[in-house]
Amino acid sequence: RFFSVKQLPLEGKKVIVTAGPTRERIDPVRYVSNFSSGKMGYAMAEAATSLGAETILISGPVGLDKPSGLTVIDVESAADMYEAVLAHFDDADIIIKSAAVADYRPKEIHPQKMKKQTGDSVIELERTTDILKTLGEKKTHQLLIGFAAETTNAVGYGAGKIEKKNLDYIIVNDVMDPDAGFGKETNVVTLLSKNGTHQPFHAMPKKELAFMLLKSIIQEESERIN
Ligand code: CTP
Ligand code: CA
Repeated sequence: RFFSVKQLPLEGKKVIVTAGPTRERIDPVRYVSNFSSGKMGYAMAEAATSLGAETILISGPVGLDKPSGLTVIDVESAADMYEAVLAHFDDADIIIKSAAVADYRPKEIHPQKMKKQTGDSVIELERTTDILKTLGEKKTHQLLIGFAAETTNAVGYGAGKIEKKNLDYIIVNDVMDPDAGFGKETNVVTLLSKNGTHQPFHAMPKKELAFMLLKSIIQEESERIN
């Protein structure tokens, strides 16, 4: 052989990435949501694609351009996201849950715009399905990667979420760090694995960080993935 064909590390792999916030409707003009920009999730999806994966990006409402070379499925609520993820889960090899899924939704969606009146200051909420936890119960061969944005004790809470949701990895960040968090171009994270390994990453652009995170995971999983 004069030369070998160097395969990209994720060639032949199907990767699902969820990104952005979800919106839980109150009435036709209002919703409950969070400050997620979707930037980290989009960066993860683009990095996975560049590394050879066939990527499905399941995106909540964000103001970002659609990346090319991958499939984007737009969703609004946690329930929509759950349905879209489940539809592709069996075929997927890796699931990266960067989305900031709303934990609660209004118990009922008012069909008409709510009018203000005295005594109506409470909106009753109920829990949404924990998508990642459900996937953790269902997984067979899939590699499950979660994200967690915390304001305190990020590594401690992250380790707890690996256990609770049966994850392979979780990427945690402290949103109080000036270089991390919602809407920022940079992030500062720690990659935790179910084997108890901790790998801190210093502040860097989300796009660059996404590559570094995937490369670390690929290296740690090289037997399982290749
Ligand atoms: N997640 C999910 N479905 C939910 C809530 C969270 O799939 N209904 C996923 C997120 O996409 C993320 C991970 O779970 O990958 C951790 O989310 P986080 O909000 O940090 O965890 P929670 O279990 O919701 O705990 P907390 O009470 O800290 O919000
Ligand atoms: Ca949550």
